[in-house]
Amino acid sequence: MAPTAITVDDIQLGTQAFWTAPLDERDRAFAALRARCPVAFHAELYTLPGAPQGPGFWSLTRYEDVRSVNRRPGLFSSAGGITLSETSPETLEFFGSMIVMDDPRHAKLRLLVQKGFTPKTVAAVEQSVRTRARALMVQAADMGTCDFVEAFAAPLPLQVICDMLGVPAADEKQIFDWTNVILGVGDPDFGAFDALFESALAMYNYAQALGQDRLEHPGDDLVSILMHAEVEGQRLTPAEFGSFFILLAVAGNETTRNAISWGMKALTDHPDQLAAWQADPTAMTPNAVEEIVRWASPVIHMRRTANQDIRIGDAEIAAGDKVVMWYWSANRDDTVFPAGHRFDIRRSNAKDQVGYGAGGPHFCLGANLARREITVVFEEIFRWFPDLRVSEEPARLLSPFINGIKRMECQFTPASVISDINA
Ligand code: HEM
Repeated sequence: MAPTAITVDDIQLGTQAFWTAPLDERDRAFAALRARCPVAFHAELYTLPGAPQGPGFWSLTRYEDVRSVNRRPGLFSSAGGITLSETSPETLEFFGSMIVMDDPRHAKLRLLVQKGFTPKTVAAVEQSVRTRARALMVQAADMGTCDFVEAFAAPLPLQVICDMLGVPAADEKQIFDWTNVILGVGDPDFGAFDALFESALAMYNYAQALGQDRLEHPGDDLVSILMHAEVEGQRLTPAEFGSFFILLAVAGNETTRNAISWGMKALTDHPDQLAAWQADPTAMTPNAVEEIVRWASPVIHMRRTANQDIRIGDAEIAAGDKVVMWYWSANRDDTVFPAGHRFDIRRSNAKDQVGYGAGGPHFCLGANLARREITVVFEEIFRWFPDLRVSEEPARLLSPFINGIKRMECQFTPASVISDINA
């Protein structure tokens, strides 16, 4: 599609086809919406098998509009669901942890786990992040060619969140498979709605057994904290605990994995950026990590529901309407990020990106942890495999919600002997 050929009416964010199109087409479509129709209404022309047909949704594509809605939770509720597709009350209840709640309940639940995610606690898990990352380097050392996602991007976030939750190592693979299905819903590789429920139920039952164990044998992991915590004088119900567990495992896993994978892809496509980063990692890393999350926008959107009639720009939004904040688009808004589609680790305001949310009460609880993980993975890759490059186009996840990479081959010079791995 030539840039001039796009009319706003051509852009159907509610179709499956839109999300399979090449990324530069996606960029052009969002640029057209930002320029010509920043608050647009889109029909839901595709629904997941088994899901109800939706009434359509408002799309916010400009940075300032996304921030404004994100920061006004009293007007824009999370309780009706956070993805653009229709979500039945049963589904919400099942996954209904704090991310689909409004304050004050949301704030109380968040407080329970917040201390597990402060910069100080994250610094304390630093050593385990490093040890886990190095073990991955050792495993990959003599491969030379491999699937980057499987070898480098997926294991670390999974292992770290499992460590924090207190999940035994033998069960990590199972958690990994369940989270894949939950966030991959809609992609043919991961099955449809039924598979989503089966995986969520299995994970829920797993959580109950683990929780019971920690009730009797408390440790210092998040599951023990959650099982013994009280909100308003009461313990979490099994249902509340189960959905909390699912949220933490899912949110901490896929997102960071995709940031790492897209980061490697961007660095391969922009050798000058890779060289600049490798030349001065100490100075470049913090900004490069922000730029990766801005450019990758691993969570493409979050949705809210209007609590009352409200006007945004020229649009009259009615109470009950779905309002979608396109983080992907806000992160490419040229008025904030000049040439926003370009990957540039020297971008002076990369830290203003909204990949983790835009400053509202649901701002990503794991942002510090994710920054740490992305940092450590790239430090280790640069150290042991400085010539690692992506060697084929990524197999992208078909999803309007998660900007995912399922597989992506990479090549590097094997480092058959990694000496002094713990140095
Ligand atoms: C690059 C990696 C990550 C990205 C891009 C990301 C993105 C996001 C986004 C966009 C939100 C919703 C923000 C909003 O609507 O205002 C969110 C919420 C959340 N994230 Fe992350 N996330 C990442 C990593 C993590 C990690 C490692 C964890 C660890 C468990 C985590 C846990 C959570 C939780 C628990 C919430 C819900 C917070 C609430 O409702 O108060 N995330 N994340």
